[in-house]
Amino acid sequence: MSAPNSNYDPKQVSALDAEAVASALAQALADIAAATDLELLKAARLEHAGDRSALALANREIGALPPAAKADAGARVGKARQEIKRALEERAVVLEAEAEERMLAEERVDVTLVVDDLPRGARHPLTALSEYVGDVFLAMGWEVAEGPELEAEWFNFDALNIPAEHPARGMQDTFFVAPEHSHLVLRTHTSPVQARTMLSRQPPIYVVVPGRVFRTDELDATHSPVFSQVEGLAVDEGLTMAHLQGTLLHFAQTMFGPDAKVRWRPSYFPFTEPSAEFDIWYPQAKGGPRWIEWGGCGMVNPAVLRACGIDESRYTGFAFGMGLERTLMFRHGITDLRDMFEGDVRFSQQFGVEF
Ligand code: PHE
Repeated sequence: MSAPNSNYDPKQVSALDAEAVASALAQALADIAAATDLELLKAARLEHAGDRSALALANREIGALPPAAKADAGARVGKARQEIKRALEERAVVLEAEAEERMLAEERVDVTLVVDDLPRGARHPLTALSEYVGDVFLAMGWEVAEGPELEAEWFNFDALNIPAEHPARGMQDTFFVAPEHSHLVLRTHTSPVQARTMLSRQPPIYVVVPGRVFRTDELDATHSPVFSQVEGLAVDEGLTMAHLQGTLLHFAQTMFGPDAKVRWRPSYFPFTEPSAEFDIWYPQAKGGPRWIEWGGCGMVNPAVLRACGIDESRYTGFAFGMGLERTLMFRHGITDLRDMFEGDVRFSQQFGVEF
């Protein structure tokens, strides 16, 4: 700000004379009116109402005028600045409205546009089913475990109480892996994961194991050399067949509805004793309610507990295993197993993505 100057000649302050103020005002109003967008208006504001604008600078000179001249110049400059301020505000309202209108027009969604109609894929129902089975057991506090498809003979057989010369080896049509002494097989069931789990940890054990298994079967409507099972294993203190029965009944009802029932038939598996095969009563079966064979189960053979480093005098266990393709077939009335392996997306799409 200029210091008061006793030798001051008001005529030198030409910025304050009426003509200069009027012309600054006219220029400002013209520029404001000419601003066609908010950017230009901002520039006009800086130019005509900013700290360094002609009228702001003029305003600073007022203080230095002789008292008589102050009021006059002050009123003139003040009025002009007031007018510019109002013009800026009015123009801003107009330009903002225009900008919004333009944005609405440019960003409008054309709902009549044709969407792309690329065919969507679908989850395979077997994948969805095995995840659902996992969820059913997770909800009961179990864990999901897994093991390799290319398996050591020892896990697939020996650890499960099926020694080399045991006739039970012949019960399962095994794919042996070359060379002959590799001692590797494509696992014939998910039961080797029982042994793997028990060897890696101590009870309490509650695991469910969905997985792919292999047997030398021909592919037809009800057989496939590659199929899926789900294995269950529980090892804890005081487990009895009643726990096995309750677990299977609950599982059956989550799969086949609240009216499903389970029936047992005595059977033989080297790794369980006693052993049973179980059927489910399926009220919604196509062609009327009936019993259908579902899987095998039993109390874990103490010889298996021992082979896997678990104290068989303290713990008991139960295990079960069933085929997932069969489960899916019963549940959805699928009559040909091959539909599940052909990879035709039209088959999978019928199941949706939820199970
Ligand atoms: N692993 C047996 C099979 O594939 C099924 C089974 C699992 C039986 C667990 C008893 C216990 O036939």
